[in-house]
Amino acid sequence: MKLNNGIIMPEIGLGTFLLEPIDAENSVYEALKMGYKLIDTANAYRNERAVGRGIRKANINRKDIFISTKLWPSEYENPNAVDETLERLGLDYIDLLFIHQPTKNWREGYKQLIKAYNDGKIKAIGVSNFEGEYINDLLNEFDVYPQVIQVECHPFYPQTELREIIKEKDIKIMSWYPLGGKGMTSELLNSDIIKSLSNKYNKTPAQIVLRWHLDMGFIVIPGSKNKDHIKDNINIFDFKLSKEDMNQISKLNNNQRRYIRTDEALENFLNWKITYEAK
Ligand SMILES: NC(=O)c1ccc[n+]([C@@H]2O[C@H](COP(=O)([O-])OP(=O)(O)OC[C@H]3O[C@@H](n4cnc5c(N)ncnc54)[C@H](OP(=O)(O)O)[C@@H]3O)[C@@H](O)[C@H]2O)c1
Repeated sequence: MKLNNGIIMPEIGLGTFLLEPIDAENSVYEALKMGYKLIDTANAYRNERAVGRGIRKANINRKDIFISTKLWPSEYENPNAVDETLERLGLDYIDLLFIHQPTKNWREGYKQLIKAYNDGKIKAIGVSNFEGEYINDLLNEFDVYPQVIQVECHPFYPQTELREIIKEKDIKIMSWYPLGGKGMTSELLNSDIIKSLSNKYNKTPAQIVLRWHLDMGFIVIPGSKNKDHIKDNINIFDFKLSKEDMNQISKLNNNQRRYIRTDEALENFLNWKITYEAK
């Protein structure tokens, strides 16, 4: 997928939210060995060092992989935040760096991303969870636009409104909770529509949903610590969903998020300090 600054980004990768360091290291290693090119992590996942170990163990040429991570709000005013993130990952540049949450001091975080981009420490700029007023404020206040916005996105909540806002600037959506969210996937994967398409295409329900993300033009990062799932999730390039079947899946849209974010939660994010995993 070509981003609005000309950088080419893989459209599917591995997510590492809620993966313990040992699971993150193993999943990253297995995924890269299977041909994954994109890995997503975050300061807040407390597994960036483990992701770095998985990358080194897989021993793939750095330029052939694409790493995304996210600055936590407590880091937005830390002038060393990007360098510290690089140190934890063991990398000398990051392909895509997000600010993770639109809290009060997000403008400082965004300025850090612009500086890191100009210094060549990151290749693309991202914002995460900047829906509604936040993306509008950002696009109005800054001349430098992000390349990617990472948000909750799946057939129940396909981000219809946001897609209209970002279309003109060609900002790509990267879907989190793509299968309905860790521990909550069964409602989506066991829905009648997905199950019947699974039978029709002879693909697993997860593969149908992931193919839907790609056919919608989204970048997708299913999380998994199961080698068989990791393998299945990338095996989606030998079919495409027909227009009629995409329309069927669109009937699942009930405009319901799986994760409810409150102003109070955003305020808490600002105060939450991360303790990083040991070296
Ligand atoms: N920016 C943000 O605020 C934010 C928030 C949440 C998530 N994220 C990112 O988005 C990524 C994806 O979200 P997520 O991991 O929470 O949710 P998800 O990808 O929707 O669901 C993950 C769950 O799906 C299961 N799974 C994976 N592949 C499967 C398959 N082929 N068949 C059946 N089950 C399968 C996994 O279990 P197994 O381990 O058993 O495979 C895991 O429990 C995260 O890992 C993270 O990188 C970002």
